[in-house]
Amino acid sequence: MNVEKARRDGAEQLNRAGVESPRLDADLLLCKALGWERSTLFAHPERILTSEEEAAFRQLLARRTQREPLGYILGVKEFYGLNFFVTPNVLIPRPETELLVDISLDFLRRQNHPALMADVGAGSGAIAVSVAVSLGLTVGLVYLNSLHEISRRIVALDSSLDALHVAKRNASFHKARIDLVAADLIAPIAGPIQLIAANLPYIPTRQIPLLQPEIRLYEPKSALDGGEDGLDHYRRLLAQARSRIDTENGLIAMEMGADQGEKLASLARDSFPNAEIAIHRDLAGLDRVVTVRFEGI
Ligand SMILES: C[S@@+](CC[C@H](N)C(=O)[O-])C[C@H]1O[C@@H](n2cnc3c(N)ncnc32)[C@H](O)[C@@H]1O
Repeated sequence: MNVEKARRDGAEQLNRAGVESPRLDADLLLCKALGWERSTLFAHPERILTSEEEAAFRQLLARRTQREPLGYILGVKEFYGLNFFVTPNVLIPRPETELLVDISLDFLRRQNHPALMADVGAGSGAIAVSVAVSLGLTVGLVYLNSLHEISRRIVALDSSLDALHVAKRNASFHKARIDLVAADLIAPIAGPIQLIAANLPYIPTRQIPLLQPEIRLYEPKSALDGGEDGLDHYRRLLAQARSRIDTENGLIAMEMGADQGEKLASLARDSFPNAEIAIHRDLAGLDRVVTVRFEGI
């Protein structure tokens, strides 16, 4: 079998299994089997696969046919322009979560004072590591543009030790200077915290059986299940934040489902009646993040 036929057969097989992007997935699995870049596939369509390569490709295809997520099979997922290791112990970072990184960077870049950021429910560490790398908060010999960089600190918290191991690997790989803490939300931090960025589980329990197999069968329930209306973790986070957020100069940014904006904003208003509450849309135009902003109140 040559490369061209492997690509075609693989895509057909994945299409029959109901995979959303069969051609792309088949190509990426073939790249993994061959140890190639995708562009090399296009350049060498006639190259014949060895029997070992063909067997490896078939094995990878079989996993994807069972609807195992591509990220877990490849072991890596791109987020905010960086590659993150992922295992079944962590949620695979989603493109819509990049909005939380943008909001965090925008806030931190405007700080003239020391700032503490907590990435709550850090999972693979995608948010904390992306923010650290973007700000130049890295370990080793680095050139700092500003002394402010020294006074910024990022803590990544998760209740899952297994997830924190993955976050640690990603932080080391990208030389990100972040602290990793096993915790229930932000309980161990006394505060004041200037920035709380949270992508906590927000799927209502009864909707989990309706999710696509990649999510429902493979991603950790502890990263998905947000209780009856999906907002249980955020209720608890807002309660913990009351004594910890910097009410002179602070921001809480919470990712949520597209239909949860009004409800989460109203929970935030109940906890913080004097703060400025806003709902932000992602690139798909869907409500995605609620922010609670404190400026000298
Ligand atoms: C939706 S995932 C987000 C992972 C990552 N931040 C991202 O955006 O890709 C939610 C994470 O919250 C963690 N989590 C769930 N309950 C928690 C709690 N009470 N305290 C801290 N972390 C929790 C889960 O272990 C999981 O890693």
